[in-house]
Amino acid sequence: MQEIESTGFRPVRIWSAGCACGEEAFSLKILWDEIEKRFLKAPPLEIWATDTNPEVLEKGRASIYPKSSLKNLPASTVQSYFIPVANGFRIVERLRDGIHWIEHDFISESAPCKNFDMIFLRNNLLTYYEPPTKIRAFIQVLTALRAGGFLIIGNNEEIPTGELLLNPYPGYQCIFEKISFP
Ligand SMILES: C[S@@+](CC[C@H](N)C(=O)[O-])C[C@H]1O[C@@H](n2cnc3c(N)ncnc32)[C@H](O)[C@@H]1O
Repeated sequence: MQEIESTGFRPVRIWSAGCACGEEAFSLKILWDEIEKRFLKAPPLEIWATDTNPEVLEKGRASIYPKSSLKNLPASTVQSYFIPVANGFRIVERLRDGIHWIEHDFISESAPCKNFDMIFLRNNLLTYYEPPTKIRAFIQVLTALRAGGFLIIGNNEEIPTGELLLNPYPGYQCIFEKISFP
């Protein structure tokens, strides 16, 4: 049985695979904070942010972004969640907890954890790799998603295995739900 935290919810476990400097991870942390502000309670969030490149992981851990990275954010979001520092803008400290920054290669290694509720696999495996490597790694990534969990791919990407194991989520071409078997 999964651990229930003090909020009364089990943690939501998310994998940002090939996370680069952690923009996806911190977008999720901001979204969660907004949900908590509106609804008072949200399940605790656990994020695995993985990449093969140790330099981008170091930038993610430092959580400092140039002004140009924030250009599409509303001014109120920048004001609430970023602090100006000498070389850019740093994510506020309270949002920096709960992210596991891990060096990991999704081609050659099994997933860093299992039973993810969501996996973000955007703009890397499906774009830059060719079959059969792409298909083998994709299936390996999918095994880490729980049945009923969601896979999010890039806007211009396609699932390499057709709809095997996945149902498209209505209205969103880049979101898929993993099929649950009875
Ligand atoms: C274009 S960035 C995409 C970042 C993020 N997913 C997004 O959409 O904003 C591609 C990232 O995938 C990482 N990557 C490429 N091959 C990888 C592999 N085999 N295992 C893990 N990460 C990989 C790169 O190091 C890079 O940081």
